[in-house]
Amino acid sequence: MKKIQITLPQADYSYSVHIGSQIIKESLDDIIKDYSESVLYVVTNTTIKELYPDVPDKMIPEDIEVKTLVLPDGESVKNLDTVSSILDFLAREHANRKSILIAFGGGVIGDMAGFAAAVFMRGIHYIQIPTTLLSQVDSGIGGKTGVNHKFGKNMIGAFKQPLRTVIDIDVLKTLPRREFIAGYAELVKHGFIRDRALLDHLMQKPIDDLVSDPAHLSEAIRMSCRVKATVVQEDEKEAGLRAILNFGHTLGHVLETITEYKTMLHGEAVIVGMDFASWWSVKKGILSEQDFETIHGHLKNLGIKPVIRSINQDEFIEIIAHDKKAVSKGIRFIGLTEIGSATICENTSAESLWQSYQEYLMTDTLLDVKPA
Ligand code: NAD
Ligand code: GLY
Repeated sequence: MKKIQITLPQADYSYSVHIGSQIIKESLDDIIKDYSESVLYVVTNTTIKELYPDVPDKMIPEDIEVKTLVLPDGESVKNLDTVSSILDFLAREHANRKSILIAFGGGVIGDMAGFAAAVFMRGIHYIQIPTTLLSQVDSGIGGKTGVNHKFGKNMIGAFKQPLRTVIDIDVLKTLPRREFIAGYAELVKHGFIRDRALLDHLMQKPIDDLVSDPAHLSEAIRMSCRVKATVVQEDEKEAGLRAILNFGHTLGHVLETITEYKTMLHGEAVIVGMDFASWWSVKKGILSEQDFETIHGHLKNLGIKPVIRSINQDEFIEIIAHDKKAVSKGIRFIGLTEIGSATICENTSAESLWQSYQEYLMTDTLLDVKPA
């Protein structure tokens, strides 16, 4: 089992991320030993409950009762009503300030359960057991929790770091390939922005061989989580540096918005967004052609070609202006200076991004644009 320690000096808080195969029981042992309560609470969804009916129940000693709330699956239930149902569950089942809540699922479950843990009795401990590749390398660590609002994605939330994150790579065997690729976007993103060695590691094998090679996959996940951990340690609340994790997310957000969050997975939008941001970096003269070709080739190999409608300048700028990454003076756009090094380009204008997007569409892009 590999371990990463995340230490947040300002919050005087530290927790570990465990990574490996069949590690859930072992990873919970010391926490359970110190647990003074007789009930543990779990939040999961219908899909995961059906695939893994005994997890984590069979990993918990019998003298601790496991009470489970099974939520419907999907991003559409990631809202305050569902968080309210988690809080109802905790209150109804007599949870108290010392209770621990386990989030067993992908990013949707983790974000909602984490938020419920942040506000129930002003904060109880929660453990992340992320089950998608995206949640293992991204949402399962770093403490961003929350839900969507009708005016914006992830608009309501809180920073609440978990007590522990347990990444069992075995569960990825049941993850649909499309979801795996979407998670891979965030995994390789950490290589592009901060760790060339991670990209080199990933380039050693075709993506479809990753799941069948646990040693290679767990090392890739460890390296990726380590990047996120170091960034979060330096800037937990996104005052500055943490913004580099948004690499690829500006155009990604535009693409998700114009496809109404229906036809593209977040990671697919980020793949195109990273390709665009790398191309933009070359145009700005801050990234070499050679590094761009490496990134572009790698992303192209993932084999996605999302179909989108064309949009006009006003719509593009309107969407960008409402993005959480926009500040009053302009966009905080994330570029690359080389593979493994990102830079925050403050006050980038939406108009200039629109112009760049037009030029980008004339290149060998990963998009298939249909007339509106
Ligand atoms: P998800 O939680 O919806 O999971 C995707 C699908 O895979 C779901 O249908 C789920 O039931 C299914 N699934 C989960 N694990 C499975 C498994 N092992 N086998 C088979 N199917 C499985 O989506 P996601 O991609 O994990 O997370 C996306 C969410 O995460 C979004 O809401 C996004 O806003 C959020 N997010 C949060 C952060 C953060 O820092 N908090 C970062 C990135 C994304
Ligand atoms: N997913 C970006 C972040 O955690 O900051």
